[in-house]
Amino acid sequence: MDKIWTGRFSKELDETAARFNNSLPVDKRMYRQDILGSMAHAAMLGQQEIISEEDAEAIVSGLEGILADIDSGALVIEGNAEDIHSFVEAELTARIGDAGRRLHTGRSRNDQVATDLRLYLRERCEDIYALLEELIRTLARKAEEYSDAIMPGYTHLQRAQPLMFGHHLLAYCQMFLRDRSRFLDASRRMNRCPLGAGALAGATFPIDRDLTSDMLGFDEPCSNSMDAVSDRDFCLELASCCSIAMAHLSRLAEELILWCSWEFRFVNLDDAFATGSSMMPQKKNPDMAELIRGKSGRVFGRNMALLTMVKGLPLTYNKDLQEDKEAIFDCMDTLEDCLRVAAPMIATMTADRQRMRQAAAEGFINATDLADHLVGKGLPFRTAYKLVGELVARCEQEGTTLEQLPLAVYREYSELFGEDLYAAIDLDACAAKRQSLGGGSKESVLAQLQELKL
Ligand code: ARG
Repeated sequence: MDKIWTGRFSKELDETAARFNNSLPVDKRMYRQDILGSMAHAAMLGQQEIISEEDAEAIVSGLEGILADIDSGALVIEGNAEDIHSFVEAELTARIGDAGRRLHTGRSRNDQVATDLRLYLRERCEDIYALLEELIRTLARKAEEYSDAIMPGYTHLQRAQPLMFGHHLLAYCQMFLRDRSRFLDASRRMNRCPLGAGALAGATFPIDRDLTSDMLGFDEPCSNSMDAVSDRDFCLELASCCSIAMAHLSRLAEELILWCSWEFRFVNLDDAFATGSSMMPQKKNPDMAELIRGKSGRVFGRNMALLTMVKGLPLTYNKDLQEDKEAIFDCMDTLEDCLRVAAPMIATMTADRQRMRQAAAEGFINATDLADHLVGKGLPFRTAYKLVGELVARCEQEGTTLEQLPLAVYREYSELFGEDLYAAIDLDACAAKRQSLGGGSKESVLAQLQELKL
């Protein structure tokens, strides 16, 4: 296949150099966007009488044929074309002759690739919204199922205060909702059209950039041709969105891994989402969750690679930018894979209400409630806090709990204590009392579910 940049060169590109230079294996997935972009460009060239109406029509129908053939598998994207843009142009010229050679009038691969990539990523964002939405719904359904399942909430991985398992799951709903809005936001900002920026300085033909921008569903053309061909902020933003979402998924995965352990046994994953060991017959391992946690590092790495790629680049296009696609594709692919597996894994898991309740009943998880009880009797919180701390230490010395400690002992510490203290530190009562907005009680879980409006 002839290079699109023949003329100035007296030699073929070295074979190793060609392989190094080619991006076709990576960018061939943008074939549809490349063809749609070219159709819009050709139609505009015809409308502006930069090329003849007949040539424009021949180009558009030639491109339609190529698109249909790639879709059907009749045309396979392979060979030594440098990239998807060269591949499509060469194929077009092979099919329709000279008219195909007019397609690139007033255009460069620099504005073309930036346009293709934005179009492609815009679609991928749609997939990610849908997957995030599915995960949010799944978590919300689980949260509803366990809206009254008491568990210990943790700080420093130490038992802290009782709350509902549903409340814990809804915390992740909020994170994924923000992730979704981050993608929406980034994708809105990305939706401007670089086409017509040319190689870097625009075109000498009377091109209509508003027209191509409209045809391709962009909000408007990019304002500065140099920015249009060198900007990769949209990749940086999307990679950051992916990284943050992966960080959230990784935290959730980590908790699932902990909860599945024998030490916790709060959660049981469905057999369809767990694996066994080749040696130890008793094992049921949370591999999917571990892979999600593991893959987060890979996305963060790609994100860093993208930042490093752009940071030293003088304007405008430099070939370094070709590296953008492998990185951002991998970020999006990895996030999608993780979301695809996370939702059904969570949908099918069960939680052990008894185990969680038992864990919540241990570890002085009602100590704050006891202090709050004294506050209700008029004691300043800091004084109550100290007093309860002393009581906990006493219990630890005697190997007992706050619930079991006799009233007589309590009264050694404060006259304010009466029989009613036992009701105040009862586990169910403690869990039910956290009714403040966004708190850990069942009522709050149900209110949060209402607010999600799923
Ligand atoms: N394959 C190239 C890329 O992905 C397309 C743009 C090439 N432009 C150029 N001036 N060499 O960035």
